[in-house]
Amino acid sequence: MTITASENTLSTAISTSPGDSARTRSGNIRFQDVRVTFSAANGDGVLVTDDFNLDIPSGQFLSIVGPSGCGKSTLLKVLSGLVPANAGTAHIDGLPAGRTRERIGFMFQRDTLLPWASVKDNINIGIELAHVAPDKAAERIKELIAFLKLSGFEHHMPHQLSGGMRQRVSLGRLLAYDPDIFLMDEPFGALDSQTKAAMGRELLRIWSHHRRTVVFVTHDIEEAVTLSDRIIVLSPRPSKIRLDIEIALERPRDARQLRKSPDYINYVDQIWREIDTSEKEE
Ligand SMILES: Nc1ncnc2c1ncn2[C@@H]1O[C@H](COP(=O)(O)OP(=O)(O)O)[C@@H](O)[C@H]1O
Ligand SMILES: [Mg+2]
Repeated sequence: MTITASENTLSTAISTSPGDSARTRSGNIRFQDVRVTFSAANGDGVLVTDDFNLDIPSGQFLSIVGPSGCGKSTLLKVLSGLVPANAGTAHIDGLPAGRTRERIGFMFQRDTLLPWASVKDNINIGIELAHVAPDKAAERIKELIAFLKLSGFEHHMPHQLSGGMRQRVSLGRLLAYDPDIFLMDEPFGALDSQTKAAMGRELLRIWSHHRRTVVFVTHDIEEAVTLSDRIIVLSPRPSKIRLDIEIALERPRDARQLRKSPDYINYVDQIWREIDTSEKEE
């Protein structure tokens, strides 16, 4: 197999990952009988989910789809410890979710880049959080910038970049930080379809080398089928898992080729049917 320049850059970027030498990578997620309620402005309780159970094995790429407001973002926040479960537990490798914050990286639909910091400095935040040795930091930033095709834009500010480029920088920061678990909340949801497809390809390229656990929230069913090992479909609030399906499509996947595959079409169709049925039952 020939290794292209960018794959080579990526493997270097990963082999110098700060955490790998120090410990064995893992990222098993377990929700057990989780209940989350919020109090509404009028004093009523909003039950987001109750008796929610889900196991995600380390290294799995799992997507969550479901109607707006059903609790997808809340589940990610429970994992990161930002929202406490009112009952039940969320564990990462056997530890309560709030105690594993440093092992988790978040990416949102809107980039969370510092507007006054350059591309390089924004990626450097991830490097600093990961405690990369200062003599290795510059090299690592350079590798990530090359890998994410941002070379030449190191000193640009976020407002000088397109939406897709800003999300590449966010992804760069996430990779620089190198968490065990990637929590991605509609990360490409605001991008045009072409840029979204390109970002999906990048993410798969990273994931195929990295194999971190990914929990990916999306409205886009085709995107979910293209990327995931497994998809869960949630009902409207209080959210229950309506469908839990393994996506047994061969990897590496090519989005354009997949569209012609009967298996791919069946998965997309099955998920749509579940969502339609769920809406009709409302
Ligand atoms: N901090 C909060 N306080 C009160 N209600 C909230 C809070 N966060 C989310 N909610 C409510 O919880 C429900 C689930 O929200 P969310 O998880 O953001 O849904 P989704 O990401 O699936 O669109 C919604 O009804 C939302 O209004
Ligand atoms: Mg959300």
